[in-house]
Amino acid sequence: MREVACDTDGMTTPPVPARQTSGQPPTSAAAGTRLDPWFGAYAERTHGMRASEIRALFAVANRPEVVSLAGGMPFLAGLPLEQLSELAQRVVATQGLVALQYGSGQGDETLREQICEVMRLEHIEAHPDDVVVTTGSQQALDLVTRVFVDPGDVVVAEAPSYVGALGVFRAYQAEVVHVTMDEHGIVPELLDETLTRLAAQGRRVKLLYLVPNFHNPGGVSLALERRPRVLEIARRHRVLVLEDNPYGLLSFDGDVLPALRSMDDEGVIYLGSFSKTFAPGYRVGWAVAPHAVREKLVLASESAILCPSNASQLAISAYLRTCDWKGQIKVYREQYRERRDATVSALAEYLPEASWTVPTGGFYTWVKLPEGLDARDMLPRAVTARVAYVPGTAFYFDGSGADHMRLSYCYPTPERIREGVRRLAGVVAGEAELVELFGTAHDRPDDEVQVPSPDAS
Ligand SMILES: Cc1ncc(COP(=O)(O)O)c(C=O)c1O
Repeated sequence: MREVACDTDGMTTPPVPARQTSGQPPTSAAAGTRLDPWFGAYAERTHGMRASEIRALFAVANRPEVVSLAGGMPFLAGLPLEQLSELAQRVVATQGLVALQYGSGQGDETLREQICEVMRLEHIEAHPDDVVVTTGSQQALDLVTRVFVDPGDVVVAEAPSYVGALGVFRAYQAEVVHVTMDEHGIVPELLDETLTRLAAQGRRVKLLYLVPNFHNPGGVSLALERRPRVLEIARRHRVLVLEDNPYGLLSFDGDVLPALRSMDDEGVIYLGSFSKTFAPGYRVGWAVAPHAVREKLVLASESAILCPSNASQLAISAYLRTCDWKGQIKVYREQYRERRDATVSALAEYLPEASWTVPTGGFYTWVKLPEGLDARDMLPRAVTARVAYVPGTAFYFDGSGADHMRLSYCYPTPERIREGVRRLAGVVAGEAELVELFGTAHDRPDDEVQVPSPDAS
């Protein structure tokens, strides 16, 4: 595996002593009671908050014996860890009093300039003053929603849509209306129809939320020729576009499509992230917004977190300045292409009765199960068979989508992916047999459905 180079002045690193722990067992207070004495006191908006299906899965799927095709964790083993550790030390040694101090609510100015350089790869011409640095793009999603969405407002999104965004919209009591995607992304005619219908119903549509590149979970990209059409429709209906683009630079052939923001700087809020092109652990993302919106986002961010982490921002800034970050992106592309290839060839070999998208970048493929199968019902059997995925229901606001599953190929090795898909095929075959014998789980009375619990393995 190729490692990218960093210019870290050849600093040597003293060994780090092991962290001392008290050696005390956790106190019994940690166990506590499960009854919630504050049950009646929660704000109404918390009623929409629930653990995502991915989150509940992580505990089980992280066991080494399970091939997890569930979570979207980047494969970080190719990072030049020694150089990065030298870099982090150098940041503290040379800029420690800034790195460890509070900083600007909008984010470090040098980093904002560098972010503009990164975005130029997607044809975006932005001024550093348009950029707000956030704690991952997830926080940017939260800020934009907080600034624009009142309870009952509508957010229009692709069908399916990123589970983490749906969680944010739910938390702010929005209603999400999905618009069908095909293999070229959201269908402009259906978008137009949907916005016209919502306007006729007197609904207030505040945002059009899109993941135009290597969609999570869809695995498809919005075709170049559709981009201006989608923007024209949004403009005509006076709906602000929220472009969420963490995967845009991870195309397998190196082609980078122009961002929606590059075609419209007044009607689009663009979200970017270093989580997938570098590392999620620093939690650095950003938003680019029209000037007045940018001011509101900074105020919202200050009230939420005061400022993003200076230590993280300076580390990323040093990485961009001294490391071959474009080379690292190439390394990632190669790794993920190999994994995509392993996934689609294993699906063709073991699960030909299903159908799936063939992504040209990013982390995910969206798999349609054979007729009559329910991905959520099947999940406990899959985990028992030591393979995990995310059922399609996680990616729809109303919990539909049970006939699909998302497979993430980003993290396991190609060999593990093949093994995972082989196991999955066994589960699908068993489930199909059950459905043939007894009908779908929903056709059967409860006492006839015997689904092993995920803990049974
Ligand atoms: C589409 C999309 N948006 C936003 C995020 C959040 O990324 P982060 O907060 O790490 O920048 C993710 C993470 O998986 C994602 O897939």
